[in-house]
Amino acid sequence: MKIYIVTDLEGVAGVYQWENREDQSLENMERRFRQGRWLAEEVNAMSDGLFAGGATEVWVNDGHGAGATMDLECLRPGVDVTVEEIIDTKDRTGVSGWLAAGKDATLKRPAVIEPFKADVPAFDLVIIGSPVWAWTVTPAVRTFCQAYGKTARDVAFFCTMGGSGDGGTFHAMKALCGKQALSTLALIDKHVKAADETRFGGKVKAFALSLSGKTLS
Ligand SMILES: Cc1cc2nc3c(=O)[nH]c(=O)nc-3n(C[C@H](O)[C@H](O)[C@H](O)COP(=O)(O)O)c2cc1C
Repeated sequence: MKIYIVTDLEGVAGVYQWENREDQSLENMERRFRQGRWLAEEVNAMSDGLFAGGATEVWVNDGHGAGATMDLECLRPGVDVTVEEIIDTKDRTGVSGWLAAGKDATLKRPAVIEPFKADVPAFDLVIIGSPVWAWTVTPAVRTFCQAYGKTARDVAFFCTMGGSGDGGTFHAMKALCGKQALSTLALIDKHVKAADETRFGGKVKAFALSLSGKTLS
């Protein structure tokens, strides 16, 4: 049973600020390395649940930036990573980028992204995550779902948000993928940032377990 997980550093517990990629200071470099470890540890937690439920292979897409964010030395043996860059070709930095992001999401415009190299249909389960933008899915994830969702055998969805919009986001992802998610997980930023045991950790564990129960038994 092969499982494919799509990840992004943004959404990992404790990652709460935009990084200035020009900042080469020791403080920023240390933070960058620490966050790569946190991402690997969250992938480990997810993989533990999947392996416990009977998965034989877990593949992870390191979907942040140039796709080399995760600290590979911290990953559990048996977890393989596909290193691919997901490029939203539109510049979304600054206030104008933020405004355009909200507008594109509202108007349900897809983004232009680079094609994935992973063979999505070869996986039994594809777990797709998105931040909520304007109560719906982001343009980049919209494009991913549109391009690959229908070919995925089974899908599960998760999202992170300031407070609301998970319903609209999952509804859009379901329509784009053309199938019902086996399970969904919605996380609120403040619970993630606070590493809230019940409303973050507990929900992630329950999500992983629900997937192992539904797909791997
Ligand atoms: C353009 C834009 C629109 C957003 N719209 C919503 C929204 O409708 N509802 C909400 O709860 N949060 C909204 N947010 C907040 C994000 O969903 C939230 O902070 C998310 O966790 C960000 O994930 P990221 O750090 O991976 O980008 C919006 C953020 C941006 C940049």
